[in-house]
Amino acid sequence: MSTTTATAAPTATPLLDARGVTMRFGGLTAVNNVDLTVAEGEIIGLIGPNGAGKTTFFNCLTGLYVPTEGTVRYREKVLPPKPHLVTQAGIARTFQNIRLFANMTVLENVLVGRHSRTKEGLISALVRGPGYRRAEADSREKAMALLEFTGLADKAEHLARNLPYGEQRKLEIARALASEPGLLLLDEPTAGMNPQETRAAEELVFAIRDRGVAILVIEHDMRFIFNLCDRTAVLVQGQKIVEGDRQLVQSDERVITAYLGEPLESAAAAETTDGTENTE
Ligand SMILES: Nc1ncnc2c1ncn2[C@@H]1O[C@H](COP(=O)(O)OP(=O)(O)O)[C@@H](O)[C@H]1O
Ligand SMILES: [Mg+2]
Repeated sequence: MSTTTATAAPTATPLLDARGVTMRFGGLTAVNNVDLTVAEGEIIGLIGPNGAGKTTFFNCLTGLYVPTEGTVRYREKVLPPKPHLVTQAGIARTFQNIRLFANMTVLENVLVGRHSRTKEGLISALVRGPGYRRAEADSREKAMALLEFTGLADKAEHLARNLPYGEQRKLEIARALASEPGLLLLDEPTAGMNPQETRAAEELVFAIRDRGVAILVIEHDMRFIFNLCDRTAVLVQGQKIVEGDRQLVQSDERVITAYLGEPLESAAAAETTDGTENTE
């Protein structure tokens, strides 16, 4: 497979190093031999038509799927294919189809996200000793700080299901950040957002990067992708066909063909409104 890369590979050891990742479902190869790295401090985009394998690739990175072939390393260690161990290692994610605890409050949803970083065990929780109470107070403080950061602090006691769509997406991000990741994977974070919310989401992604968290983001909104990303990889039918900066990606013949020959931006805009929803 020929892959064009605009910039030389980063010299430092990457944070995430996915090599030869392949995922087959029976006769269908959803992800085909994909290599991708994300270095400390980078924002990397992943684009491609619906059904290209983007979400499946995320599922392979986060232990939801065990890839048929290939390895995923995080900070040089091969990741165990178990979601909670991946979270513990330092990778957090949001979902294309929002997954919140609808009947829990906004604050409680973030507290659930902190679970992987709290040492207090079940016994301690049942006894509710001083260690537990201290850990709980600390967790609440950190969770509230994340709600401040994402602009949801005044809704801390609201039920998640009562938030407007755009704020539910922000809450998913706050919950993901609660696990104190080094790498955050965002699966269509602006789907269903209006243009103002989308611009605010861009600012939020930059602010997350400024806190020292690297980001890998799937998005159909090309303006969002090209405003934010240091590099963008394009998946088509499970294969990475191009990776590079805006100029390289937008001018690539294969990318233009993959988006049915339309200008990239309008093709992408059409995609987000066709209502197609893939399984995760
Ligand atoms: N669990 C699964 N079982 C069978 N096929 C799947 C499964 N998950 C995804 N697929 C298929 O893999 C392909 C890629 O899907 P997906 O990763 O959701 O694409 P994208 O996120 O790029 O829109 C699709 O053809 C989809 O139907
Ligand atoms: Mg998807």
